[in-house]
Amino acid sequence: MRLYTATITRNSEIRSGVHLIEMHVPSLASTVQPGQYCMVRCCHPSATDPLLRRPLFIHSVQQAQGLCTLLIHVHGRGTSWLAQQRAGATLDILGPMGHGWEVRSTARNLLLVSAGGLIVGVTLLAQQALEQELAVTLIAHFSKAADVYPPALLPPEVEYHIITSDGSLGQQGDIVSVLGNYLPWADAVCCSVSRETATLLYSSFERMRGRQFAQGLMLHPLVCASGACLTCSVDTYSGTKLVCRDGPVFDLRELAR
Ligand code: FES
Repeated sequence: MRLYTATITRNSEIRSGVHLIEMHVPSLASTVQPGQYCMVRCCHPSATDPLLRRPLFIHSVQQAQGLCTLLIHVHGRGTSWLAQQRAGATLDILGPMGHGWEVRSTARNLLLVSAGGLIVGVTLLAQQALEQELAVTLIAHFSKAADVYPPALLPPEVEYHIITSDGSLGQQGDIVSVLGNYLPWADAVCCSVSRETATLLYSSFERMRGRQFAQGLMLHPLVCASGACLTCSVDTYSGTKLVCRDGPVFDLRELAR
């Protein structure tokens, strides 16, 4: 982990309230691993409000160009400030931090599962897995068509299965109604969903309960991100863990049973 100064090269509003920010930050681009997070300062260098950094995932990386992207959903003062930054501005980023996704070297078929904006937790994993010549399928659930993550942001090799609750785009339904079709194909499953959904998937499918088969991302507000404040402690099957240090990725058997 180290402190980076990233220079914004582009800020695109991909739909109302959602921005894709591209940054030149070569050292981070070459070190960040999928599932790790960064703590991003969300105010001018001379300001102190908001005081707390925001935990964000790197959305994608172009290592040769030294570029990383952030996908920002505006839902508060910090993300609102970030969304207003233009090309040439700099961001103060601490990272990469935490324990990310671990996909066995023998896995050939990787199944990703996401809900809503949590898709940003697996986009870099999809990119890296393709670079390692895995086949990647992403099952992504959204409330409605207007919320759907644009397919153009994914590498074209990813099989992208869109589900919407109201059927306005893709298949109507929920993750449980689709997941069973893909599990026999998958060698590993990585779930970027709420803990409630992770628990439901774990209890609904025996295969999700297999050893070293499924992992889940645990989201929690992070204050210090250093293991000092203990505000991110969560109960797991093997005892109390800190999301900032032991996670945010855990074996699903830790989170869900
Ligand atoms: S955020 Fe402080 S211990 Fe995890």
